[in-house]
Amino acid sequence: MGVVPLALKASMDRVSAEVDQGFDRLLPVPGDSRARLFEAMRHAAIGGGKRLRPLLVRASADLFHVDRVPALRVGLAIEAIHVYSLIHDDLPCMDDDDVRRGRPTVHKAYDEATAVLAGDSLHAIAFEILADPETHPDPFVRCELLAELAKAAGPVGMAGGQMMDLMADGAAFDLAAVTRLQQLKTGALIGFCLEAGAILGHVPPEGRRAIRAYSRDLGLAFQIADDLLDVEGSAEVTGKAVGKDADAGKATFVSLLGVERARQQAEILVDQAIGHLAAHGTEATLLRSIARYVVERDR
Ligand code: IPE
Ligand code: IPE
Ligand code: MG
Ligand code: MG
Ligand code: MG
Repeated sequence: MGVVPLALKASMDRVSAEVDQGFDRLLPVPGDSRARLFEAMRHAAIGGGKRLRPLLVRASADLFHVDRVPALRVGLAIEAIHVYSLIHDDLPCMDDDDVRRGRPTVHKAYDEATAVLAGDSLHAIAFEILADPETHPDPFVRCELLAELAKAAGPVGMAGGQMMDLMADGAAFDLAAVTRLQQLKTGALIGFCLEAGAILGHVPPEGRRAIRAYSRDLGLAFQIADDLLDVEGSAEVTGKAVGKDADAGKATFVSLLGVERARQQAEILVDQAIGHLAAHGTEATLLRSIARYVVERDR
């Protein structure tokens, strides 16, 4: 666990550096009373996290032979949504967490009102990035990206899944219900990342079957790994508090299946995800190595 293959590490480092530079350029601190808002956004968005979602956009873009710049800009948009979701997830009214990515959460480093506004602003900026012709010259491509991200972030995606997650506190949730919850909470944004490569590459729906199947299995495996890290991981390495799900009495894959079976299930899902790419050659190399990493990671 924790050992990342060299080629994957190189791709992760490159994407991380590009995402940091991208947010640095997008978020210059203004010389007026909004400075605190921008500083809070920078605190959350720059220099932290695995940047898995921008990496998934890159990997899907590889599959469909899409250029680096559009993939990076879509990666920035999805990471902005992800960071917003983390800022709000950590608020006292939600998971009430003090540490994220090894630093104080935004409401701890600043205050709750600033954290709400920093999340709102990152949410808005994501759509601004996608609407910009610099992301893609074809307005139909931009419109499809916008519609898909809106769907993935909203009530039929991440926000809806977060609501279900709040209701999963102590309630009688079975495996089917937890699967549905995770597909919305985590799977929808991951699904957008993979769909984005196909959208940027003008791939028709019938050419997207394999990437969509990969995405469904990967999204679930990713969330099972997150639930496992909450039980078995360390706060130092993950950069966030552990043991929170059990304390909250939350229904997760681990609470329902136990650690061993949850791990086996995650491994089965990863094998399946890689299996969906069987018709592809080296253009799917990054997608395959990300799938293995998702369940082997220690953070
Ligand atoms: C954590 O996501 C939140 C979930 C959706 C489970 P990540 O594990 O991708 O967090 P970062 O971006 O690396 O901090
Ligand atoms: C949050 O899930 C997923 C989001 C949509 C932000 P968790 O609450 O399990 O994420 P962590 O464990 O705090 O990163
Ligand atoms: Mg949560
Ligand atoms: Mg949380
Ligand atoms: Mg978690």
